[in-house]
Amino acid sequence: MVDMMRAWLVERITEDGEMALAERPRPVAAGDGCVIRVEAAGVNFLDTLMIRGRYQVKPPLPFTPGIEVAGTVVEAGPQSSNRVGDRLCALLDHGGFADYVQVPSVGSERIPADFPIREAVALPIIYPTAHLALRHRANLRTGETVLIHAGAGGVGSAAIQLAKHWGARVIATAGGPEKTALCVEMGADQAIDYSAQPIVETVREITGGTGVDVVVDPVGGKIATESLRCLAWGGRLVIVGFAGGAIADLPSNRLLLKNAAAMGVFWGEYRRHHPDVIPPMFAELFELRRQGIIKPLIRDIFPLADARQALHALAGRRTVGKVILVP
Ligand SMILES: NC(=O)c1ccc[n+]([C@@H]2O[C@H](COP(=O)([O-])OP(=O)(O)OC[C@H]3O[C@@H](n4cnc5c(N)ncnc54)[C@H](OP(=O)(O)O)[C@@H]3O)[C@@H](O)[C@H]2O)c1
Repeated sequence: MVDMMRAWLVERITEDGEMALAERPRPVAAGDGCVIRVEAAGVNFLDTLMIRGRYQVKPPLPFTPGIEVAGTVVEAGPQSSNRVGDRLCALLDHGGFADYVQVPSVGSERIPADFPIREAVALPIIYPTAHLALRHRANLRTGETVLIHAGAGGVGSAAIQLAKHWGARVIATAGGPEKTALCVEMGADQAIDYSAQPIVETVREITGGTGVDVVVDPVGGKIATESLRCLAWGGRLVIVGFAGGAIADLPSNRLLLKNAAAMGVFWGEYRRHHPDVIPPMFAELFELRRQGIIKPLIRDIFPLADARQALHALAGRRTVGKVILVP
């Protein structure tokens, strides 16, 4: 087996998010972890923040970005329940933009035999985030109406598919006609181009003035504030992220007037606080994929060596669905 590998390295934090492709020793499996050969790595919005020191988690320098991988086990730790040759997808703290990475046991899942690896890498983050946001946090019920912002993005596209499967009426928003068309293609009942149409008025019109029961918001800022105005009586706003760059000061009077709730969801921390929900959730997601009910939207595939371009495209809103790197 090789001793050295390629890995992207962030050696210092800069506003531009400098990183370089370097030769590094291949990790060695320890404890209940195992080392996989990375066959696909997911690129996430938070990678663009982490490499600039703007994410809440700040790994010690130097570090390799990348929190989502799929690949084949090449070495298993002494306490690992996995074997060499198993195919795994995993959520990591960082380290995925490399040829090999050590994956922990909590947050890594065996990929069913007939499941393509490039789709499996779309499972560790966007689907669990959407699942937890809609089910565990908002308690979405059949027949409710849900508004999903940035519906053509990673989390948004996953949320559209899951909300439709659970019997909700889905209104999506996205920037531009191509992205709104994609939202409808993925199952949204209506899609609003929020670069051209006012969100609040359009949602009111679509819902006959009632508003929506649930909002899934990965964008933040002004969109979060407007989302409160879109809520129906008893509505729930789930705060997923701040892709727009700003954290909103939410007017709490709107929560009171609508008997509403605003809540956050933080998937990564479920590994620490609620590891029990993870295996059944992944089992359900794999089964939904097997039945063709969910289908990861993968259009943007970059070679590992082009990780910088992938991150720029993501930050510049030029990607849709799940962006992946392949060796
Ligand atoms: N809470 C959690 O556990 C959790 C888990 C995963 C992700 N997240 C967060 O959720 C957010 C979305 O993640 P994602 O993976 O779905 O990202 P993504 O695929 O890049 O989607 C984000 C979308 O946000 C929209 N957007 C609006 N304003 C933007 C701006 N100024 N810059 C860039 N994009 C902007 C863009 O869609 P339009 O062009 O259509 O507006 C973009 O496609 C991120 O903030 C991420 O950190 C949170």
